[in-house]
Amino acid sequence: MKDIFVKLQENMGPLGRHHKEAHGYFTFPKLEGEISNRMVFRGKEKLVWSLNNYLGLANHPEVRKADADASAQYGLALPMGARMMSGNSNNHEQLEADLASFVHKEDCVLLNFGYQGVVSIIDAVVDRHDVIVYDAESHACIIDGVRLHAGKRFVFAHNNVENLEKQLQRANRLVAQTGGGILVITEGVFGMSGSQGKLREIIELKQKYNFRLFVDDAHGFGTMGKTGAGTGEEQNCQDGIDLYFSTFAKSMALIGAFVAGPKSIMDFLRYNLRSQIFAKSLPMPLVVGAIKRLELLRTKPELKDKLWTIVKALQGGLKEAGFNIGITTTPVTPVLLNGTVEEATHLTLDLRENYDIFCSIVVYPVVPRGVIMLRLIPTAAHTLEDVAETIEAFKSIQSKLKNGEYAHKNVIATLQEA
Ligand SMILES: Cc1ncc(COP(=O)(O)O)c(C=O)c1O
Repeated sequence: MKDIFVKLQENMGPLGRHHKEAHGYFTFPKLEGEISNRMVFRGKEKLVWSLNNYLGLANHPEVRKADADASAQYGLALPMGARMMSGNSNNHEQLEADLASFVHKEDCVLLNFGYQGVVSIIDAVVDRHDVIVYDAESHACIIDGVRLHAGKRFVFAHNNVENLEKQLQRANRLVAQTGGGILVITEGVFGMSGSQGKLREIIELKQKYNFRLFVDDAHGFGTMGKTGAGTGEEQNCQDGIDLYFSTFAKSMALIGAFVAGPKSIMDFLRYNLRSQIFAKSLPMPLVVGAIKRLELLRTKPELKDKLWTIVKALQGGLKEAGFNIGITTTPVTPVLLNGTVEEATHLTLDLRENYDIFCSIVVYPVVPRGVIMLRLIPTAAHTLEDVAETIEAFKSIQSKLKNGEYAHKNVIATLQEA
């Protein structure tokens, strides 16, 4: 017999394993000061490419004022209780109506958190007779929702519509026996590669197979499509998305999320979504703050235009300088380099300490062994000067990497010096 705590202390898990060296620097770093293109990290200003503040709303003066006014007016406690019991308000309902109309759906349900919301939506809409067919590179919230599913699940190779069709055929055979239905789940924008889910092609399969489509558009909401209504709008197939989800954690620069779809199904979710029925509703300042953000998203297209100016300059500049940015067609900008995890660590450290650039780094097992992925998130808060500075810095670290300068350093010693 083993003590549970001993087991946890012996194995900190894939991310926790390096916590002693990494904590406070690579993991749990503290970015201080006002949210903007430049923030303070360990006492020094850095150019930051790590925040999903796509439209620059986090520190928009109108947003800051709306947040402050709503907090002063309502406090953070109101409303008390779950929506269903005592926690509903006109503001909650207005935000739902505004969101539904913005994403061209009949109705919408607010969620306190995106991750929890997705898990809970999957739990609510399928039962053991139903089959889930989902993209292999889905976000953890989808994977975890699928893991809780009592029925069968079939995974399709990432963004591979042919393979999806095969899985749909398997699913069809199964539901013919169980009497259940099929739910296909994918994303609008994949947050690591920046590629778009093939929504249009998936929706075309509805002509041959009977299924419902649930799309997590966390990175597409506000950034994609003519009006910012997301990847469905971008691909001109929003109608074919049966359940449209986004978090507020990115373009909206807030906490919370929503799911939108037909009124009858939203009513079902209102009465069956366990993460909302058994949890206190979103505090009023968050709801009022979200209404304000959505208004800006709708009425200030220049924010999205500015985002895309920065995206195009950054991605174009990186490509021109010979960098491999993969297959992104969205603001998410991966820079793929070849090297070991140790080299990646040194390179990131060099970038942070000597070039004052703060970006996220992704290594094996998220990307294949030998690949280093630096992930940049351009936003409307960045400038073209930021882009030029970054491209110069990247050229410099690229040549150091090629010359093997990051290969033989002692990470811990360097970190202690930093
Ligand atoms: C694709 C995707 N889905 C869901 C979530 C979870 O959203 P939240 O942060 O609101 O829990 C995230 C991250 O924020 C995400 O990137």
